[in-house]
Amino acid sequence: MAMIRNWIRASVGAALSIAASSGAHSADAAKGERVFQQCKTCHTVEKGGKMAVGPNLYRVLGRKAGALEGFSYSEAMRSSGLVWDETSLAEYLKDPRKRIPGNKMVFAGLKRQEQIDDLIAYLTKMSD
Ligand code: HEC
Repeated sequence: MAMIRNWIRASVGAALSIAASSGAHSADAAKGERVFQQCKTCHTVEKGGKMAVGPNLYRVLGRKAGALEGFSYSEAMRSSGLVWDETSLAEYLKDPRKRIPGNKMVFAGLKRQEQIDDLIAYLTKMSD
């Protein structure tokens, strides 16, 4: 019994510290879905979604930039050497043309860090 109680206490403690470490603003996938409206003109995000003006973004985190088969990327994107993670995505979405000069995504960029965090939470969710 005592063992189980300790185990429960440890698990709850771990869960709480994860929640606490996510920072002042906790990213909100539901808000991120609303931010994604701006991307929808050009991107699908569902599994097996079609390539549109831009490539499908299902499971984009962890993916090599410019690597999805069936989409014709710019040379700049293909040779960027990036892997999409929270940092590279945040930098790209803030200012696409500055982060990867010559890439062909025509998007001015998201100005608010909060929007970027929420959007990344949403994209992370769209992966299983
Ligand atoms: C006007 C159309 C357009 C809009 C709006 C747009 N994109 Fe894109 N996006 C593109 C195109 C085109 C590419 C391919 C760029 C290239 O090959 O140079 C791209 C590439 C990307 C990539 C790289 C994908 C990969 O497979 O490497 C990501 C990530 C991405 N866009 C995310 C977004 C997000 C998130 C938004 C909304 C905040 C957005 N885009 C808005 C057209 C768009």
